[in-house]
Amino acid sequence: MIFTVAIDGPAAAGKGTISRAVAQHFGFRHLDTGLLYRAVGVKGGDPVAAARDLGPADLARDDLRTLEAGQAASRVAALPEVRAALVEFQRRFARSEGGAVLDGRDIGTVICPEAEVKLYVTATPEVRAHRRWLELGGDEARVLAEVKERDARDMGRQDAPLKPAEDAVLIDTSDLDIDAAVAAAVTVVKARLAGT
Ligand code: CDP
Repeated sequence: MIFTVAIDGPAAAGKGTISRAVAQHFGFRHLDTGLLYRAVGVKGGDPVAAARDLGPADLARDDLRTLEAGQAASRVAALPEVRAALVEFQRRFARSEGGAVLDGRDIGTVICPEAEVKLYVTATPEVRAHRRWLELGGDEARVLAEVKERDARDMGRQDAPLKPAEDAVLIDTSDLDIDAAVAAAVTVVKARLAGT
């Protein structure tokens, strides 16, 4: 069975948690596409060459989740050649046998417009920054500033800007706990699998 769940949305909206839970629930494979951009961002040197040569060791680094890696990712993600170098791998993953969940910024709009399910997961910047601060610690005001800066760059870029696909189902997690957010996503996928 070929079945793609595309989950897009801004920084720290809960995409990762929802994606992992949906993949586990349905036995689908999961790809966190943000990690690809983070790995390119932290590698240094020419980002286009880094994107073309990305390997398993780059994705296994333990410094990919930091605020700095997020900022570096969003800078290299604005380069069309970097995005182009990563497209094929993501498309193949999305349409591989057995079902796939991909989370990112452009999965439903660019990588896999034919995805069977498209979700746009969001929350207010303050709620998202608070969640990221609980994960990473540090100064919460700085985390909020970084989240807003990254949102502006991701939504404002020319190539594959962050925006909901026209047929995406919106899930606002501002007032939802993890279980409720996951349940909302699972309900949408179940309905599509049942053909309703
Ligand atoms: O986990 P978080 O939502 O903070 O970020 P992420 O998903 O790891 O993505 C890091 C950065 O990579 C984003 O701010 C985007 O600039 C970029 N990205 C992208 O452009 N396209 C994707 N499909 C995934 C991430």
